[in-house]
Formats: sequence, structure tokens, C-alpha cells
Amino acid sequence: MSPEFELLSFKNVEYTYPCSQHPAVQNLTLRIPKHQRCAIIGRNGCGKTTLFRLANGLYRPKRGRIEWQGKPLNYDRKSLNQLRQKVGLVFQNPEQQLVATTVEEDISYGLCNLGLPESEIAQRVQQTLLDFDLLNLADAPINYLSLGQKKRVSIADVMVLQPQLLLLDEPTAYLDPKQVQNFRTTLEKVHSRGTTILLATHNLDFVEAWADWVFVMDSGEIVLEGTPETVFNQSQQIQELGLGVPLIVTALNAIQDELTLNQLTPLSAEQLQKIRQRIRQL
Ligand SMILES: Nc1ncnc2c1ncn2[C@@H]1O[C@H](COP(=O)(O)OP(=O)(O)OP(=O)(O)O)[C@@H](O)[C@H]1O
Ligand SMILES: [Mg+2]
Repeated sequence: MSPEFELLSFKNVEYTYPCSQHPAVQNLTLRIPKHQRCAIIGRNGCGKTTLFRLANGLYRPKRGRIEWQGKPLNYDRKSLNQLRQKVGLVFQNPEQQLVATTVEEDISYGLCNLGLPESEIAQRVQQTLLDFDLLNLADAPINYLSLGQKKRVSIADVMVLQPQLLLLDEPTAYLDPKQVQNFRTTLEKVHSRGTTILLATHNLDFVEAWADWVFVMDSGEIVLEGTPETVFNQSQQIQELGLGVPLIVTALNAIQDELTLNQLTPLSAEQLQKIRQRIRQL
């Protein structure tokens, strides 16, 4: 993949936390393709959050290289500020991200720091409140929100900055089914504006239905990547990594088994693909 088609790349990156003896990520190599919906899956502690923090310069690798559009990251304050305007990170825990007193103030905080004109700030904040179903909570004190509401505000905080690459750490955690659906609609809007998205999640059904490209991480490195179909077809490897499989894959396998058991013709690859596509559109 040439730099033209990749936004951010990691080459043999290693990072060890200050008080730890073992690297949290090592030999970490991946290329995030432009304009794609990408997902990272992997069991607890495999290094997903560490990868995100390396990606927006919060941590600096001990070994290896991280490049933005083919150029190595610089770690001086000015370069990091520029990087963070392009790479937006939504934290796993919303409590670590929210800074202001009310929802509206929190969403405008980053825009005010960019020194944008007041009229543009007001317009972007209103649109974001609308996109995230937060209009009726605009004046609510952050401290009074539920965890799911805080999560929604923390995603809105970053999306309002219109980053080129959006990193979302466990975005659907704490969201109820309606909010997961709303979130997916919003992601489609963000993606259609040209934003590349990389999200880490344990929600394999979401990944199967949403992602164009899936990275599978284990013990601090990428061990498998591909389209959701390719990745989830490696069911033995996926099971060995302790990840389970999406419900749709289990259901389609059960249907094939049942057809074979009853000496009926199993569904063709084309029919399976059509069923997947229909379910994706639900
Ligand atoms: N602040 C820290 N200090 C020391 N070790 C840490 C710290 N944060 C994470 N680690 C360790 O680094 C490794 C990777 O953790 P990380 O949080 O990146 O995993 P993760 O894939 O995001 O897990 P989860 O799915 O639970 O969110 C783990 O072994 C973890 O114990
Ligand atoms: Mg994590």
C-alpha cells in the first residue's frame, strides 16, 4: 500500500509502560487504509488501547516507527497538536475525557482551543448536539449524566473537531441498542464525509455488520487481518484466540449443517453473501 492509500502506519512498534517489565505491544505492524471502516478486535489486555494512545502521540514507541501519510511522527508540542487535529481519539472510559461543566460547554471546548470564529463554533456545536441526540441534554451538568450518556458526549466531543482519522476505543460500551443503532447511523455520516474510522470493540456482531477491514490483535501484535468474511471464516484461529464468532456466522454455519444432515444442497457462497448483505442493511 503506498502512502497515498494509507493514513497511519506502524512498523515493528514496541512500547513498554514505565513500571512494567514486559512490552504491552511489540512487533506491531499495521497500515490503516484511507477512507475505510476498520475494526480492531482482540481479548482483554492484548494492546488495543495502547495502540490508540501510540497512534495519537500520547505515548512514544521504544522501538519501531509510526508514520502519518508516510512521514514519521514528531513529538514536539506543535507537531503533536497538529497530529491530534488529524487523529481524534475517543477514550475507552468517558470519565477520562470530559472536562467542562455542561454538555454544550464540553463539546465546544476543543473548538474554542482551535481559535475558530464564534459563529462557526455555535453552528458546529448545534449540529453535533443534533447528530448525537444530545439537544435535550445541552445544559445538563456532566456529573449528572449516566455512563452511556457520558460515552455519547465523549464521542461527540471528538467528532465535532472533524478529524481525518477517528479512533474509537470501545464506542458501543454502555450504549443501549437504540443508541448503538443511532451511533451506527452517525458513523455512516462521518464516514461519508471522507473520515477514516478505526474502532476497537468486543462487539463482534457490530464488526461483522459494519467493518470493511478487521485487524485481529493478540499479545501486542496483529496476528490476522482482512475483510470480516475472511477473518471470521478462520473460525478455528479466532476461537483459539478466545474471541468467539459473530452470531450471523454461527447461524449460517448451523443452517449449512442442517441442510447437509438432511441431504439437501447447502447454500452457495453467492447465496451466503446475499444473506450477509441483507442482514448488514437491517
Ligand atoms: N498504565 C499502565 N501501566 C502498566 N501496564 C499497563 C497500563 N495500561 C495497560 N497496561 C498493560 O498493557 C497491556 C495492554 O493493555 P491495553 O489496555 O492496551 O489492552 P486492551 O486490548 O485495550 O484491553 P481491553 O480489551 O481490556 O480494553 C496489558 O497487559 C495491560 O496490563
Ligand atoms: Mg482497551
